[in-house]
Formats: sequence, structure tokens, C-alpha cells
Amino acid sequence: MSMNSVSKYSFGKVTWKCPSNIALIKYWGKRGHQLPLNPSLSITLKNAYTVTELAWEKGEGLDFYFDGALNEAFKEKIKKYLDSLPYSFLKEYKFKISSKNTFPHSAGIASSASSMGALGLCLASLIKNEMDEDFYKLASNLARLGSGSACRSVYGNMASWSDEFAIPIKNIHENFKGMKNSILIVDRGVKEVSSRAGHALMENHPYRERRIQRANENYKNLNEAIASGDFETFGAIVEQEALELHALMMTSSPSFILMKPKTLSLIENIKTFRQESGLNLYFTLDAGPNIHLLYPDSQKDKISSFIKEQEVEVLEDEMGCGPELISFEGETYGN
Ligand code: PMV
Repeated sequence: MSMNSVSKYSFGKVTWKCPSNIALIKYWGKRGHQLPLNPSLSITLKNAYTVTELAWEKGEGLDFYFDGALNEAFKEKIKKYLDSLPYSFLKEYKFKISSKNTFPHSAGIASSASSMGALGLCLASLIKNEMDEDFYKLASNLARLGSGSACRSVYGNMASWSDEFAIPIKNIHENFKGMKNSILIVDRGVKEVSSRAGHALMENHPYRERRIQRANENYKNLNEAIASGDFETFGAIVEQEALELHALMMTSSPSFILMKPKTLSLIENIKTFRQESGLNLYFTLDAGPNIHLLYPDSQKDKISSFIKEQEVEVLEDEMGCGPELISFEGETYGN
């Protein structure tokens, strides 16, 4: 990231809409400054997103509004984040940030991915003037510094991340176009382990080296399945990654069991349904008990009756085309 970029805008505002994402190959564990131990790969969602407006003028200070109300806790977090960025000229601005999500805070969807993604895009609009490939690299890098997984949210469809910024997955077979993601809400409770504490558990984990190897193998094989349209191999790798993430948590010190009995019974039902119907219904899990179902758009009618039978709350989502610039107004110096 260049440290010499200087915005030409003395005041202005920008609004970005940025979706959340769900990892298929899981980022778990850090190296260096906010870099991942292993490569990860995710699908970008469509319905779960954050809209953030960043307004700036010459001066100093920060106001942070969440859902229309001043929010001091978020303000402190964002202030620390802004101070940590390698752009000293940001200190010459007074910022007003207003943010809202389309999904409830506790629905088991990573709100940090969409919110830091949206803020990264807003800051990139202030720092850089053209929306070329480098713009998205910058936005992804800025998002990563706030929340690792957020760096993947600045691209549509699927993205992978192994270094300072994420990159879009270019070779996606049409079998995956419009892939569905139905989220079965098992528990709306607050996360038992923060992702910061979770990543730290990998530092001295007994399976650390093996995990890095496995994630690299899974990453390579998943990319091949995505390119060739092999939904079965895709599903097998995705389920194995989800269970491995939870296995890593169960075998760390201290250990965490984040699945609930209901999570396990739903997984059994998914496996039985898959065997009996021959349909491509697979699951993944985040660091919590809720289940993200993944299945092809072409099978949605048959799968929706299975979902109804589970009698749990469902949030419907699908693979989406990525962030959107809603508006930009900037007043240049000397105007
Ligand atoms: O971006 P963080 O620090 O909230 O970590 C996210 C970790 C997982 O959601 C479990 C996996 C991932 O790759 O998104």
C-alpha cells in the first residue's frame, strides 16, 4: 500500500454498499500483521450487506452512527483502526461515519466482513481517484487491516485471500452461478469466542502445521472443483473444512465447542437427505452453531421443502455480484 497517496478532496462524502461473505476454506490463525496462516476462499453474499456513508472535511475528530444513533463503542474501535492506517494525511480530516446492516447483529452472519469491507471501500474512494483493479486491491487491504475476512468481501461471486489483499476467483463454472446459501439459525446468541481470541488459539495449537498443509491442499482442490463444475467434490471439501475449523477449536487450549445438539442433528438430516435424494445439498459453518446450506440454484425447489421440514428460522441468501458504489461527492482543493 503506498503511503504517499494524498486525497485531492478537501471535503465530500461517499456511500458504499458491501455484502458479507462466508468462507468455504477457513481462515483460522494469523501470521505477521493481520495476515492469514493459510489461504482462504469465500462466496460473497447478496442479501446480507452493510451500507456505509463516510463524510469528511478538514479538521479533526470522528462521529460514528450505527442504525442512525451515535455509537461510542464502535467509534472507539474505528478510531483505533483509522489511527493505525499508514496514511498520515487522514489525521487532517474530521470524519462522520454512518453505517447500517440489512441483517440482525446476532444472526450468525459475520457483520465485521461487510462493515469493514464497506469502510475499506469508502476510504479507498477518498484515497484513490480511479476505480481500477488497484482500487479494489487498496480497498481489500484497508478492509483486511480492520477484519481479515472482510478483505474478501470487496469482490463479487468468490474471492480468495492469502496475502495483503484478496483477489477475485476468475474461473467459476456455470454450475455455481446463482448458488444458494440458506442460513439455518440454531442460536442467535452472542459469539462464545471472539475471532481475535480464536485466531490466537492457533499460535501453539498441536495441529498447527498439519492444518496449514491441509488448508493448502483443500484450497488447491476446491479451486479445481470450482473451475470444472464438480459440485460433489466442492461439497465434500467445504463440509470437511467446516468440521475441521470446529475440530481445531475443540482441540485447542482452552477448548471451545461451538456446535449445539441441534447443529449436529441438522447435519445428520442434511446427510440423510443428500443420500436419499441424490441432490447437491451441502453445509458449511462459521465459528458458531448456525448452518449455512449451499446448493445449486437449479435444485432450489426440491431443497426448499427439506428446509421447511427442519422447523428452524431461515435467512435466505445466495452468491451475489459484490459491492456497489451508491454515491460520491467530492470538492477538490482550490475549487
Ligand atoms: O475476519 P475475522 O478475524 O473475523 O475471522 C474470521 C474467521 C472465520 O469466519 C471463522 C473464517 C473466515 O475465513 O471467514
